[in-house]
Amino acid sequence: MKVVFLAPSYPPEMQQYTRGLAEVGASVYGVGDQPLSALPRSLKQHLEDYLQVPRLLDDDDVVARVHAWMRGRAVDRVLANWEVMVLTAARLRERFGVPGMSVATVEGFRDKQLMKERVAAAGLRVPRSVRVRTATDAREGAARIGYPLVLKPISGAGSADTYEVRNERDLEDALARMTHVEEASLEEFIEGEEFTYDTVCIGGKPAFANVAQYLPKPLIARTNEWLSPVIVTVRDLAQPALADGITLGNNVLEALGMGDGFTHMEWFRKPDGEVVFGEIGCRPGGACLVDQMNYTCDIDLFREWARAVCWNTFEARAPRKYNAAIIFKRAIGNGRITKITGLNEFMRRYGEHVVESKLLPIGAARRNWKHTLLSDGHILLRHPDWATACELANIVANDVTLYAE
Ligand SMILES: Nc1ncnc2c1ncn2[C@@H]1O[C@H](COP(=O)(O)OP(=O)(O)OP(=O)(O)O)[C@@H](O)[C@H]1O
Ligand SMILES: [Mg+2]
Repeated sequence: MKVVFLAPSYPPEMQQYTRGLAEVGASVYGVGDQPLSALPRSLKQHLEDYLQVPRLLDDDDVVARVHAWMRGRAVDRVLANWEVMVLTAARLRERFGVPGMSVATVEGFRDKQLMKERVAAAGLRVPRSVRVRTATDAREGAARIGYPLVLKPISGAGSADTYEVRNERDLEDALARMTHVEEASLEEFIEGEEFTYDTVCIGGKPAFANVAQYLPKPLIARTNEWLSPVIVTVRDLAQPALADGITLGNNVLEALGMGDGFTHMEWFRKPDGEVVFGEIGCRPGGACLVDQMNYTCDIDLFREWARAVCWNTFEARAPRKYNAAIIFKRAIGNGRITKITGLNEFMRRYGEHVVESKLLPIGAARRNWKHTLLSDGHILLRHPDWATACELANIVANDVTLYAE
């Protein structure tokens, strides 16, 4: 089983997928922009071969180079788990004639407007929306859809350049700040709670599924530095409150023609109970979500994903044992971390529930919280009881504080 895996070293969790592929018996041909000598040993041992390309995001160049590199070696799979590489992987699959999702299918997971059109065409509830290229488009769209609205890039990530627009003034403000964005989606603002629906699929059917709740919604978390974003995986997927969201998720997979691999979807539950599609990617969620799912079930999804995409089987038993909560912290002040308060006390009282404590150490430079949800580090904890898991996450959010100078 010869697998071309794009971006095996970055983002860092890609190294875990590379390991997973090797562990299920694949020969992994990695393609990245780092020199081979810069790759960690722990990664190199899982690579059969490696091609360094000058610019990983130069699609045409990467396709041509990989094609030439693998000539004469029968390729069985071309895979990517990083959002910006999933279309390149699809192009290479078409070029090599190997199984997997086509470019046309993957476009439905990358272009937010096309995505919503395909999902809506299957009779599923999406926010009403229009594609906008100019300020005039946006003003006309706003008049048609009505406020409140959200304005966001067509292929955005990390809530960058995403604005809540409550009235005409907000719209003009948002447009002024978005002049560098070529294409945007203007859509109906959905009030309510926000969840994920994550899967590992075989032939578009989930072999593994997960729901997590955002506390608060990512847009709020990304606009208020002082708060600590929390994401909690839900142990009990059978509860009636999630049934409509999971059904929506499965129907979306079908509507978009999902094949094999990870999906990461976001959806809303309105106060009246109606569920609404948000967005979906044909790749795993970032910011440690796969680790969270692993802690939820005590499994190794890095490896199980590899088994699913290479051999179309999913062998691990995945009993849902815990609600796993991750709390991202942001320091008060700028510069380097000088002090952490509340952590020792928390660990003394509740440390038995903590599975990872990766706050930045004293002396480390702060990360840019706008650029990475990882912020200044995280605590990951788990508990079988939902309310307790949320309560413990709240204590970390409120009582653990990092300071920087
Ligand atoms: N129609 C909507 N109604 C309400 N909130 C929305 C809507 N669209 C987006 N949001 C909010 O903005 C956030 C970011 O939007 P979206 O998920 O589409 O962009 P993104 O940049 O791909 O996000 P990320 O990479 O963080 O998942 C959502 O998680 C949600 O909180
Ligand atoms: Mg999103």
